[in-house]
This record gives sequence, C-alpha cells and structure tokens, in this order.
Amino acid sequence: MSLNPMHIVASNFNISDLPQNASQEQITNYKLIRLSSLYTNPEAFGSTFARESLFTPETWFDRVNGQARRIIFAIPAHIQHEILPSGCNLPNTFWMGTVCVLWPEMIKAIPPVDPYPLELARREEKGDVDVYMIVGMWVHPDSRRLGVGKALIHYAIQNVLAAESAGGEKQKVITLKVHEGNKAATALYQGVGFVSMGPVDGSGGKWMVYGL
Ligand SMILES: CC(C)(COP(=O)(O)OP(=O)(O)OC[C@H]1O[C@@H](n2cnc3c(N)ncnc32)[C@H](O)[C@@H]1OP(=O)(O)O)[C@@H](O)C(=O)NCCC(=O)NCCS
Repeated sequence: MSLNPMHIVASNFNISDLPQNASQEQITNYKLIRLSSLYTNPEAFGSTFARESLFTPETWFDRVNGQARRIIFAIPAHIQHEILPSGCNLPNTFWMGTVCVLWPEMIKAIPPVDPYPLELARREEKGDVDVYMIVGMWVHPDSRRLGVGKALIHYAIQNVLAAESAGGEKQKVITLKVHEGNKAATALYQGVGFVSMGPVDGSGGKWMVYGL
C-alpha cells in the first residue's frame, strides 16, 4: 500500500458520504485516507497508525459499513465519483479530506471518557438529548486552507440535523474532542458554532459541543 501524498490541489471540490454497503474500492479509499491521516498527523488522533495498519479487511469493512456511523469525504470536483474508473492513473489516495460522524447508538455503547462535560452528562441523564460525535477529521496537507475542512464539518452537521431522532424529538447535540494545542482545528470548529466545554483531560484533550 502506498502512503504517497495525492498531489491534488483543487479549489473546487465535492462533499459526499459513503453509502451503507460500500464497495471494496470505497473501503480501500477510506482505509488509505484514514491510515494517511494517522501517519501524517499522529498528534491529532486518539488512535495510531501502528494499531490501525494491523486491522484486518473485516475490521475495515465493519468500520465503513457500520450502521451507526457516517463517513464523509471530499474529492476534487473534476472527479465525478468516489471510485476511480479502472485504468485511471491517479493515485488511490485522491480523497482530499474526511470526517466521520458517530450516531447516538454507537456513542451509548462507548463509556464516557473523563472528564466529561457535566452539563452534557446531566442532559443525557434526563434523556432529552441525542448525542452525536465527530471523529477522524483530516484534510490532506496539499488541500488545506481551501475550505475543505469547513465544508466537511458543515456537511456533517447537516447530516445530523436531517437525521430522524430515534426516540421522539430530542435536541441534537454534536460533540468532539480536540487537543487544546490544535489551533487550526479549534478555530475551524469554533467558526461553525462549536463551543469548548468541560475541563481539559490529562493528555490535553478538550471537549467541544454544538447545539446544547
Ligand atoms: C484542522 C484541519 C482539518 C483544517 O482543515 P482545512 O481544510 O485546512 O480548513 P479550512 O480551509 O476549511 O479552514 C476553515 C477554518 O479553520 C481555521 N483554520 C484552518 N487552518 C488553520 C490554520 N493553519 N491556522 C489557524 N486557523 C486555521 C480557520 O478559522 C479557517 O477559517 P478561515 O479560512 O475563514 O480563516 C486540517 O488542518 C487538518 O487536517 N489538520 C490535521 C488533522 C487535525 O488536526 N484534525 C482535527 C482533529 S480534532
């Protein structure tokens, strides 16, 4: 597998999300960009390249096709589909950026990580919020400062707002964790309406919340 940069610089791009039952090519594209992100910006993520490069094909399949997550990606506008036609000589890692939204069913299965925002915990206990989580935000270095990150996060928010609430009409809240030293990501999230909430954890991670 190659982790070479894709060398595509575009000011024009399209944002989409992977369908359920993604094809093998789509899974490969996701795997490539995910591993590239962990390899290039290890400081930005909770997981590591060493860990995920050992994932089996079944794990990648489950990750992409899991019902309770949505993988969103950006591709240059001149490419019409997220799968390259066979014979195309672009490198495989042509996705410009990606982000993933975890749905409430998945969040409920993950025990809250301390320190967790108190106000959010209180509202969850009351049962009047549906909590979604943004993970895996990454834009390829060659494609940064073009608005890709902002477009990915806007798309993620729109997806959440459009989602049907599982248990009646609950308030939708989106959370994410970002390292307090990550000025670029913090500015990106603040710019679309996320606010910092709760104390910073021992490794410098802080929660940001949208919609509370
Ligand atoms: C953070 C990241 C996703 C931003 O992606 P991007 O496509 O370059 O961001 P955009 O071009 O959409 O910029 C949107 C806003 O983010 C902020 N921003 C982005 N890069 C910035 C930088 N280097 N310094 C300061 N602010 C920055 C700005 O507020 C910008 O708005 P503006 O262009 O109106 O000033 C990208 O730098 C990245 O992938 N970093 C490494 C991985 C990472 O940190 N992921 C987040 C994990 S929580």
